[in-house]
Amino acid sequence: MRNVTPDNITEVFTGYFGPDTDPRFAEIMGALARHLHAFTKEVGLTHDEWRAGLKAMEWAGQITTPERNEFVLMSDVLGLSSLVDMINSHPGATSSSVLGPFHVSDAPPMALGADLRADFPGEVVLVQGHVRDLNGRPIPHAQLDIWQTAPNGLYSSQDPDQDIMSFHGLMTTDEDGYYAFTTVRPVEYTVPTDGPVGQILDAAGRHPWRPSHLHFIIKAPGFRDLVTEVFPADDPYLDQDTVFGVREDLVMHYAPQPAGSFPEGFALSGKVNDAWSRVDFDFKLVAR
Ligand code: BEZ
Ligand code: FE
Repeated sequence: MRNVTPDNITEVFTGYFGPDTDPRFAEIMGALARHLHAFTKEVGLTHDEWRAGLKAMEWAGQITTPERNEFVLMSDVLGLSSLVDMINSHPGATSSSVLGPFHVSDAPPMALGADLRADFPGEVVLVQGHVRDLNGRPIPHAQLDIWQTAPNGLYSSQDPDQDIMSFHGLMTTDEDGYYAFTTVRPVEYTVPTDGPVGQILDAAGRHPWRPSHLHFIIKAPGFRDLVTEVFPADDPYLDQDTVFGVREDLVMHYAPQPAGSFPEGFALSGKVNDAWSRVDFDFKLVAR
C-alpha cells in the first residue's frame, strides 16, 4: 500500500492516469493538480475556506444562463481570460482582448459609412480605419462584427428598452481594407455584481468598473480571427479595468471636429450640424 501524504499526493494523482490518456490532457490536468495542491499547502486552506470556495462555484452555476455566464465573469475578474488572450496574441498583430458576455449572433449587415446609433442622442463619432496584414497590406472584404453599450451604459441584452440588435452591426471592408461607421460614445459600466463575482470584488476592496470601449470581432479568409476592444485614452478607468482588458495598442483618441465640418460620403452626411469627433484606428491581422 502506498501511503498518501501532502508531499506525494500530486505524484499519486498523476499516477492514476490511464496509459491512453491524451498527452495534452495529462499535461494540463497534471499541472492544474500540482498548482492546486501547492496553493492549498501554501495558504494552509481550512475546511471552512474550502467550503466557501465550493459554495461560490455552486452559486455561479445556479445563476449561469445562456445570456449570463458567471464562470466566464469569474475568469475575467481573476485575470485568467486576459492572460489567455495575451499569451495567444501574436507580436505585431493587434492584441486580442476579452469577448465579454454581450456579443449577439447574426448582427445585421451595415453598409460602409453606416450609422450604428439609430435614434440615440449624443455627439456623433466617426470611427474609421483599415484592416491590414502584418506587412501593412490592406485586407479587402474583412468582416467586422461591432458592438458597444448605449449611452445609458447598457448592452442591448441587458436593456428591455433596446432592440436586441441595437448597437450591433456587421461591416465588410472595401478593396482598400477600409471600414467606417458613425456612432455615439460608449460609456464606462460595471460588470454584474449580484453574484459570487460581486462578493469576491467586494471582499477584495475592488470596484466593478470597465473603461468605455468598442468591441470588434474581425474575420478575413486566411487570417486568424481577432476578438478585441478599443478604449479611449482619456477614460478614467483606463488604468483600472476590472477585467484587465486594456493593452497599449488598443488605446484610441476622440479627435474633436468643429461644427459644420462633417464630411461627405457617410449615411449621416448633411445631417450633422454640431461638433463631432473622429476616431482613426487600424487593425493588424496575422495570417493563419
Ligand atoms: C464586456 O466588455 O462586455 C465585458 C467583459 C467582461 C465582463 C463583462 C463585460
Ligand atoms: Fe463591453
